[in-house]
Formats: sequence, C-alpha cells, structure tokens
Amino acid sequence: MARQGYSPTAVVIHWLIAVCIFFLFVSSWWMMGLPLPSDELTFRELPFQLHKNLGITLLAALALLLYVRLRHRPAPAPDRAARPWMHRLAAADHVLIYVLIVAVCVSGYLSSSYTRWGTTLWWLVELPDWADEDEAMNMLFSDIHLWTAWALLAVVAVHVGGALYHAFRNDGVVRRMLR
Ligand code: HEM
Ligand code: HEM
Repeated sequence: MARQGYSPTAVVIHWLIAVCIFFLFVSSWWMMGLPLPSDELTFRELPFQLHKNLGITLLAALALLLYVRLRHRPAPAPDRAARPWMHRLAAADHVLIYVLIVAVCVSGYLSSSYTRWGTTLWWLVELPDWADEDEAMNMLFSDIHLWTAWALLAVVAVHVGGALYHAFRNDGVVRRMLR
C-alpha cells in the first residue's frame, strides 16, 4: 500500500522534538529553582548547559524536519477526517509551532549571551561570546523567552488536543505520524 503519512525520518524527528520540548519544560522549572551560583554553589551549571545544548540541537532538528517534510510532502490527510476549518486550524497551529520554537530558542540564546555564562555546545565547542554582560538585555530576552515558551505550550496543547480528537475518531490522521 502507498505511504499515507510522513516519511519515517520526519516521524522520528517529530517524536525526538516532542520528547525534547517536554523535557525542556519540565526540567526548566527544576533548573530555575536551584540556588543562584556562587563560588561554593554551582548546582545550576550542569542543568543550564544541558538545557541550552538540547535547545540549540532541537533548533537544528526542527530545520531538518522542515527540510524533510518539504522534500517528501505527505499525502493530504484523509478528507473524511476533518472539516475545512479544522484543516485551517491545524495548518496555522503547525506554522505557529515552528515560529514559536525558533522564537523560544533564539530568545533563550540571546538572554544567555548577555550574561557571563558562556555556552559550550555538548561540552565540546565553545560558542563565541559576542555580547558584553548586560543585565537589562538579559532580563528583556529572559522575559521574551518565558512568554514565548508559554505561547508554545498553548499551541502544543491545541496540537495534542487535535491529535487526541483524531485518535478517538480513529480516522487515520494520527497514524500518519506514527510509522
Ligand atoms: C524549545 C526550546 C526551549 C524551551 C521550551 C525552553 C523553556 C524554558 C523555560 C520554561 C524556562 C524557565 C523560564 C523562567 O522560569 O523564567 C527557561 C529558562 C531558560 N532557558 Fe530555555 N527553553 C528552550 C530553549 C532554550 C535555548 C536554545 C536556550 C539557550 C541557548 C535557553 C536558555 C535558557 C536560559 C538561559 C534560561 C534561564 C532563564 C532566562 O534567563 O531566561 N533555552 N527555558
Ligand atoms: C511538544 C510536542 C510536539 C510538537 C512540538 C509537535 C510538532 C509538530 C509539527 C511542527 C507538526 C507539523 C509537521 C509538518 O507538517 O511540517 C506536527 C504534526 C503532527 N503531530 Fe505533533 N508535535 C508534538 C506532539 C505531538 C503529540 C503528543 C502527538 C500525538 C498525540 C502529535 C501528533 C502529530 C500528528 C498526527 C501530526 C500530523 C498532522 C497532519 O497529518 O496534518 N504531535 N507536530
């Protein structure tokens, strides 16, 4: 039978991204709850590096997902699956997910650039330290990071709600992203 859904590569990347974002959300509140760093207390170092590394890698994975799905366009979802407004809502939600992931990652990176804490990509590659320490800029991008993260959570909730709706109808839409 001809392939109905996304390519296997797109499916694998989609689920990696989903797990990564779930982890970034859950771990960020733990990370932010740790005591501020001092000479004796450096608990934040590992979770912050992990958070930043995962976020940056996720951005690369997102670019790959976009490339793969544009090269191998999935067949349209079965017509009986949804009404036209549902197709429009899903398409808009997908675009918003892409845009917000980029916005969350870029604002997180910029926020961190205005601190004295550098980023070493997977403890291997020192990323350039191109901005001076600036508390006001750090706070600005930190706020943008937080609000775009909340907005991302909201559009992902709509996305998962839609997926659950299709799963209960068993109309073949969720299967497109499973294998
Ligand atoms: C989709 C990816 C990401 C998600 C969902 C995410 C989510 C979050 C959340 C919810 C917080 C807690 C905010 C707060 O309580 O103030 C946070 C903090 C933080 N994140 Fe991310 N993040 C992502 C990617 C990144 C990236 C790529 C970087 C940097 C390279 C980054 C750097 C930071 C930093 C430095 C903080 C500490 C607070 C701040 O200065 O904003 N994040 N993140
Ligand atoms: C943080 C979590 C998630 C993110 C960021 C995410 C992101 C995305 C994106 C960007 C697309 C569109 C791909 C494209 O066509 O370019 C997509 C499609 C899809 N996702 Fe997710 N997703 C997440 C979680 C989930 C979950 C939990 C489910 C299932 C319960 C799911 C099921 C699907 C399905 C079925 C499609 C294809 C929809 C269609 O055929 O039009 N996703 N996802």
